[in-house]
Amino acid sequence: MTVTGTRPAVAEPRHAGRLDQRWPVESLWRPGVEPPAGEIRGGVLPLDLRARYAAPLAIALRSDRPTIVANFVSTLDGVVALDRIGASGGCEISGGFEPDRFVMGLLRATADAVLVGARTVRASRTHGWTPAHAHPPSARGYAAWRRQLGLTAASPVTVIVTASGSREPRHVPMDPGTSVIVVTTESGARRLRRLPRAGHVEIASLGEGDSIAVGRIVAFLHARGFRLVVSEGGPALFGELLAGGMVDEVFLTLAPQLAGRSAASARLSLVEDVSLAPAAPWGRIQGVMRSNDHLFLRYELSHPHREDLS
Ligand SMILES: NC(=O)c1ccc[n+]([C@@H]2O[C@H](COP(=O)([O-])OP(=O)(O)OC[C@H]3O[C@@H](n4cnc5c(N)ncnc54)[C@H](OP(=O)(O)O)[C@@H]3O)[C@@H](O)[C@H]2O)c1
Repeated sequence: MTVTGTRPAVAEPRHAGRLDQRWPVESLWRPGVEPPAGEIRGGVLPLDLRARYAAPLAIALRSDRPTIVANFVSTLDGVVALDRIGASGGCEISGGFEPDRFVMGLLRATADAVLVGARTVRASRTHGWTPAHAHPPSARGYAAWRRQLGLTAASPVTVIVTASGSREPRHVPMDPGTSVIVVTTESGARRLRRLPRAGHVEIASLGEGDSIAVGRIVAFLHARGFRLVVSEGGPALFGELLAGGMVDEVFLTLAPQLAGRSAASARLSLVEDVSLAPAAPWGRIQGVMRSNDHLFLRYELSHPHREDLS
């Protein structure tokens, strides 16, 4: 068969390090000039960050509890991890796309704390939950942004949630300049206290039982004075936060790959272990950005009232 006419070339498969890392993340759409009402964190970025991310970043702060924004990268078909063991991080999803790493670092740099579930920590061999670790070339820019925001700590606190307290030493970020709080159950705390622990790691027991009610975790973060928390998942912890009506915004990078799923490869999707619809949170779009073939979406969520959840 002869094909005539022009047809856009099909993109080659993408692998980490092979993408066209084109800058900046450009703004395709954002709401009118009205800033969020009430107290906000953020504003116009310093020049060097603005050169990479062409929109202001302002996040409304709540007074009743910390504002929680989630950050994920997913494939077009909603997969966030290729396998539970092995190649299971966001890098395989984004193709190691540098602008996505930059946005992750920017959100961390804006926050008081980064919240992660223990399986995400265990899935990562070397990750540190700091702005500079997400995007080392922007370390100075992130530090300047934190100073501009009046944040005194050099990095946000890493908060790891675990019921079991199961970990190996490599699973706790080792940089002594970053405070780590492991939030756990009483039995998890007993287990963790038997292991060697660095001085920058605190263990906080939030009570007996097999897990901690998500409201308790958020109340703990509130009591610690955190105003803005970035939740980096994974999907199980994210699902719990959503079910509890605790997620205020989602920053979602859509990577232009279709991963697929089968019975033999149970890949995680964005939300796991909870059924939300029909009493689902709905999003209101707050920004559409793009870099190369990746889309950067920002949604503000509104949650159903508790009586609708019954
Ligand atoms: N693409 C992305 O943007 C992205 C982002 C984040 C993560 N990921 C991937 O997602 C995968 C991990 O996600 P996941 O959904 O399996 O797990 P997860 O949410 O990271 O962690 C779940 C674990 O957190 C602890 N936990 C959660 N809720 C708790 C509660 N209420 N009380 C006490 N402990 C609680 C438990 O730890 P214990 O088991 O220790 O009791 C639980 O097993 C990894 O492969 C990671 O790389 C991808």
